[in-house]
Amino acid sequence: MLHIREYQSRDRVAVLELLKSLHGEYKRTVLPPDLFDLTKDRDLEAAFGEYFSDVESHQGRDFMTLVAEDTDGRVVGFIIGGVEHDRWDEWTPTGVIEDWFVVDERRREGTGSGLYGRLEEWFRSQGCRRVKSDTWWSNQLSRQAHSKLGFQEYQVSFIKRLD
Ligand SMILES: CC(C)(COP(=O)(O)OP(=O)(O)OC[C@H]1O[C@@H](n2cnc3c(N)ncnc32)[C@H](O)[C@@H]1OP(=O)(O)O)[C@@H](O)C(=O)NCCC(=O)NCCS
Repeated sequence: MLHIREYQSRDRVAVLELLKSLHGEYKRTVLPPDLFDLTKDRDLEAAFGEYFSDVESHQGRDFMTLVAEDTDGRVVGFIIGGVEHDRWDEWTPTGVIEDWFVVDERRREGTGSGLYGRLEEWFRSQGCRRVKSDTWWSNQLSRQAHSKLGFQEYQVSFIKRLD
């Protein structure tokens, strides 16, 4: 397994590249073209740059980013978790997996599970008794990885084009 550690500001460029791969190339491979077009971000750089700045500025408080690094110091995977507070929910706070990605050539070596395991420890330390996560319906890799880690599938979401 690779070295898993907390995100540091020097990882920003690498994590942004992986975020763009997840929501660009990878998403394109798992969704039918019409659904990809309907849900894609026009400008990945802008959308994820802004999102990740927000995540970064709350590191260790509302968000936790962990990275997996290979022996050459290259970041080959990451996970971002957030803690959601809802005063009307008796289960609050809930841990949420926001984004989770390991580069293709380093998958199935235990890195994804290792990243999630560290995030789950952090969720517990924040008082969470439950973790939520979602993905695109046709993302089999994600469904298999979640199932292996003990998640159950419970929700389906819908989208429709109006123009
Ligand atoms: C999901 C992901 C992060 C898992 O990372 P990983 O490093 O491959 O995960 P692990 O090696 O720890 O595998 C965990 C388990 O998932 C399942 N799994 C992973 N890849 C699989 C595959 N190709 N076929 C079947 N099961 C698979 C297995 O049960 C595996 O455990 P096992 O090897 O002990 O049987 C990675 O597959 C990925 O980046 N996928 C693309 C992006 C994505 O789907 N992200 C998550 C949702 S946004």
